[in-house]
Amino acid sequence: MAGSAIGLGNIWRFPYVAGEYGGAAFIIVYLLACAFIALPIFFAETVIGRRGGADTFGSMKKLAPGSGWHRIGLLTILVPIIILSYYSVVGGWSVHYLIRSFGSGADDAVGHFGPFISSVKLPIIAHTVFIALVAIIVLAGVKKGIEKFTKITMPILFVLILAIVVFSVTLPGSGKGVEYLVNPDFSKLSADGIAAALGQAFFSLSLGVGTVLTYASYMRKQDDILFSGVGTAVSDFLFAMLAGFAVMPAVFAAGISPEAGPGLVFETLPYIFAKMGGGLVWLSTGLSLVFFATVLFAALTSAISLLEVGVAYLVEEKKMHRRTAVFSLVLFVWVVGILCSLSFGPLSNVTIFGDSIFDTLDKACANWLMPLGGLLFTLFVGWRMPSADVLDEFSNGGTKPLNRKIYPAVRFLIRYLAPAGIVAIILSAIFN
Ligand code: PFF
Repeated sequence: MAGSAIGLGNIWRFPYVAGEYGGAAFIIVYLLACAFIALPIFFAETVIGRRGGADTFGSMKKLAPGSGWHRIGLLTILVPIIILSYYSVVGGWSVHYLIRSFGSGADDAVGHFGPFISSVKLPIIAHTVFIALVAIIVLAGVKKGIEKFTKITMPILFVLILAIVVFSVTLPGSGKGVEYLVNPDFSKLSADGIAAALGQAFFSLSLGVGTVLTYASYMRKQDDILFSGVGTAVSDFLFAMLAGFAVMPAVFAAGISPEAGPGLVFETLPYIFAKMGGGLVWLSTGLSLVFFATVLFAALTSAISLLEVGVAYLVEEKKMHRRTAVFSLVLFVWVVGILCSLSFGPLSNVTIFGDSIFDTLDKACANWLMPLGGLLFTLFVGWRMPSADVLDEFSNGGTKPLNRKIYPAVRFLIRYLAPAGIVAIILSAIFN
């Protein structure tokens, strides 16, 4: 689950969204959204998944037979696949920059990012490579593919990002970046910013789209839901902060605006690495390789979870062969991903409410569809499932005293605070 949570959302999305909405102020709201809204939803999804023991459709049918609740399944098939489509484009960028580390990565030019993403061929090839890697891992299955890959890469990720943080905060001029992350400026935080913080919490914890539910269906009965949820949320937040401390000080040291948008990470880091190498090509290349390998691995462990949701549905509900399921979904992702990629170039004039195809899909998923899914999951667990069943699942049949003790608080959050919070934030963003 941590593998799914920790991804491009932490390294690529978090720093630039935080940058757009005022740094530390955004982070405080984000942290509150994680603790009081996202975490209860995480618990809700886990309870449904483990108790239902299947994908969203199957679990809902089992827990609420004869009702319409299983229709949420539709949301959880479509949304992850749409997210994966643009996610794979960014994953492709990391493939490109990883390879680029060997050659021109050693020069310190700024401004390579714009021309790259707006070109046609290269980003599409990179997107294709990325989605092919995802397909290979998911094809190998849950245990031998997903779990094995994730278990190996996650610890490596933490070590790599820590190394980059140490390096980044020691750069001359990096102090402003650190300040930016710890000194809140609430004047930049609009209602939009609060909605964006909620969206980021959903995106980063992979919530509201059935991913957590599907992974929970693979959990053992003796696993602790409280521990899994808190462990995932804490490691995810820690990693986002580490990524912030890896990227922001470097951004300020390089004199780049923190509001540079989606290109922030890809634009800034190569520049810094080149500078820091001090003319030693092997050093710049090495730093760049380490960083973009981190980005790529983090992206892969999340992307496989996005694909697995739909695959689980097709295999379990439609009795499709795993291979057919993977190939058909990947084909869809590949085509939509190409459109997303082209929306930075030839299709940049195609806009929906002023946003490009890429931005529209990202905002629609993170700021609207994921919270909507989360809302439905909490309503289901809070109001439809018998409380005794929820407690039974949450406390492993009463064998976890701590879980039993805090259950009333968790139930309050699931029933009232999380749904009310989501509705309030969505409404205020609409009226804004
Ligand atoms: N949580 C992932 C990240 O932060 O990169 C992205 C993600 C994965 C979103 C899985 C949704 C999901 F279902």
